[in-house]
Amino acid sequence: MKYGHFDDKEYEYVITNYNTPLPWINYYGQDGFFSLMSNTCGGYMFYKDAKLRRITRFRYNNVPRDYGGRYYYINDNGTIWNPGFLPMKTKLDSYKCRHGLGYSIFESEKNNLKAELLCFVPLKDLCEINQLTLTNNSKETKKVTLHGVIEFCLWNAVDDQTNFQRNWNIGEVEIDDTTIYHKTEYRERRNHYAFYHTNIKHDGYDSDLDTFIGLYNSWCDPSAVLNKTSYNTKASGWAPIASHMFNLEIKPGESKTVIFQTGYVENDEDKKFEKLHVINKEKAYELQNKYATKEQVLKAFNELKTKWVDLLSTLNVKSDNEKFDRMVNIWNQYQCMVTFNMSRSASYYESGTGRGMGFRDSCQDLLGFLHLIPEKSRERIKDIASIQFEDGSTYHQYQPLTKRGNADIGGGFNDDPLWLIAAVSQYIKETGDYTILNDPTPFNNKEGSEKPLIDHLRASLNYIITHKGPHGLPLIGRADWNDCLNLNCFSKTPGESFQTASNFESGKAESVFIAGMFVLYGKEFATILKNIGNTDEAANILKEVKSVEDATVKYGWDGEWFVRAYDAFEHKVGSHECEDGQIFVEPQGFCTMARIGEDLGYGKKALDSVEKILTNDYGVEILHPCYKEYHIELGEVSSYPMGYKENGSVFCHNNPWIVIANTVIGNNERAFDVYRRNCPAYLEEVSEIHKTEPYIYSQTIAGRDAKNYGEAKNSWLTGTASWTMYAASQAILGIKPDYDGLMIDPHLPKEIKHAKVTRVFRGVKYNITITNNASGKYLMTIDNKAIDGKVIPYNKDLTEVDVNIAL
Ligand code: BGC
Ligand code: NOJ
Repeated sequence: MKYGHFDDKEYEYVITNYNTPLPWINYYGQDGFFSLMSNTCGGYMFYKDAKLRRITRFRYNNVPRDYGGRYYYINDNGTIWNPGFLPMKTKLDSYKCRHGLGYSIFESEKNNLKAELLCFVPLKDLCEINQLTLTNNSKETKKVTLHGVIEFCLWNAVDDQTNFQRNWNIGEVEIDDTTIYHKTEYRERRNHYAFYHTNIKHDGYDSDLDTFIGLYNSWCDPSAVLNKTSYNTKASGWAPIASHMFNLEIKPGESKTVIFQTGYVENDEDKKFEKLHVINKEKAYELQNKYATKEQVLKAFNELKTKWVDLLSTLNVKSDNEKFDRMVNIWNQYQCMVTFNMSRSASYYESGTGRGMGFRDSCQDLLGFLHLIPEKSRERIKDIASIQFEDGSTYHQYQPLTKRGNADIGGGFNDDPLWLIAAVSQYIKETGDYTILNDPTPFNNKEGSEKPLIDHLRASLNYIITHKGPHGLPLIGRADWNDCLNLNCFSKTPGESFQTASNFESGKAESVFIAGMFVLYGKEFATILKNIGNTDEAANILKEVKSVEDATVKYGWDGEWFVRAYDAFEHKVGSHECEDGQIFVEPQGFCTMARIGEDLGYGKKALDSVEKILTNDYGVEILHPCYKEYHIELGEVSSYPMGYKENGSVFCHNNPWIVIANTVIGNNERAFDVYRRNCPAYLEEVSEIHKTEPYIYSQTIAGRDAKNYGEAKNSWLTGTASWTMYAASQAILGIKPDYDGLMIDPHLPKEIKHAKVTRVFRGVKYNITITNNASGKYLMTIDNKAIDGKVIPYNKDLTEVDVNIAL
């Protein structure tokens, strides 16, 4: 069942049934002011950091799930409704929520009154615009009361939900006839405030939640709205909100528009106040004046749209598969940009109060958006590398506001360091710019500890080289990519974090997955070293790579697939010798990509096993059979009920590894088959089963052993986005940035016979026409001249190149 449809021309998903199986959301913002917006107008806003600088509140664990938002109440002769259906839940005569790139438009109608609500964060400014137009489509004049309302968060989202004894005393606002300013804690150590403003004067306001709603009422029956009034309250402590009320008379055929703006302002220490207790509003006025008219809003909206169209023109495909094109051209790239902004911090599944930017997560995310924003990527790489320690190990996460490593989680995830090589090598391939290797980058953010970035890469590899176990394979530490494979944790204490506890540091548990990574990224680093003339160093690295490769061939092969790990007692994990968890997906993907045991046919065998044992209707499950019992020596992986999360769901993140690996062994049909199984556009038709947004990848889809087989969870903030982008563009389409130029090495399935791709690469536009006769041959021609090899050497003097590929 579908709840809407794609509108590819507008780059939108149009939700037409507000009863979606879960909130279907969107994100706004690019330079600091960010918002989440659901199809019922739920969600929240923050500045840079969802934990430390939350602007509006969200009610977690609420029933219904999606509460807290920006709500517009329309009271039309006693019928009260909202353009986004919630909170009133009044049945609407028509409803559309058009989620586009960085904006949403709600179009709803009730009793011949039409509401059009346009919401977005303008390109450069720290504010969210909500422009609401009401049109009277009836034959009589309507007298409508409109209330707009948001609820402020007292900045630190964790403290806001816990420290009531203080927080219920500190709320402060300032009010004038168009704006409510939220200035809690501004009198003392904060230099920032927020405001909720309208472009026309209101007919009443409220800033005290309990009065606006009525202590025993709720968002579904706020007292002010029911009574078509405002109480003109000035919040003092408790819960500050901002509500503006308008009494609108709308004639038949007439439209009335109000522009609501939620803004965020920071002031210099010496410019905080206008006079005692009165905040300096200069910057707020500037923002307000910038969006005071419909024309100004339209201009900013068009700029945003144009920006996205330009950005996405970097890579565009037109093939004979509409769903593939729509994902590659629009939604997959868009999701990658959202992971750039959010990492794993703020979604409807990531509370925005826990995880910040992950070292491994953000490094992998880079693979998906580097082609779109190379400069910002370079900055991001530096931020990430700055939380690394001199020995090559790293903090696991950092807070986006402070950019400091998160000490609560610490480090010890032994795959982390290698992801930095993945990110930096991809940066060089995309940009051709090796100078990034010289960027002075501190260790653990310590001033004076800066070393060229290349030393960080050396440290990364060295960490693995110096941390090996009894079989010569890399030690796993607290966990590797699979956060739940906690082989040194041995936790008996309820609630203890599997990721941070280590009750038995064996110094022995090893990861075959990290071995695969080491071989793949070790070779990559050696290539970089050769390219910059460090041939001796490259040769040394390749020796180290060889030794891990040999160890993997010897101890990491189970007969039909790669072993996953060795536990603290040197027992195999992910082997036919095990009762449960006999095969794990991760090493099958990575060791095949790294071509370990290629001459022995390992990759091919491993991927056959993946198809035979792990593949279900929605993709490839992470392991099989699921663990039936808790295994203290394995950790969190065995804590999940069967078929969920790391215990046997389709963990979508590693499915693209299988896609890529299949292209490595030349099995194009199977590569595309795996791609298709969990591609959201293909799952749109079964949205009632899949449940999450049909335009966005989710982290997991419950596996065959789960009660809710096929149900997805944790949409948006997942490495699935970047790896799938990588798989679709670099493996299936085969458009691969390489050190010396653009490689074109398509692995299209037979069903895609034609594809026209435009790719802007280092400023040159490549128009690539691929004809797929599935002949097993490869011919590249430029201007009818056959070209040797698969790489088009980069030539900075060209602006446009037309290439033909016949397969
Ligand atoms: C989840 C993992 C996640 C980890 C992060 C675990 O509970 O299953 O997917 O990466 O928490 O803290
Ligand atoms: C989610 C985490 O963000 C990611 O880093 C990890 O690799 C996966 N879970 C698998 O456990």
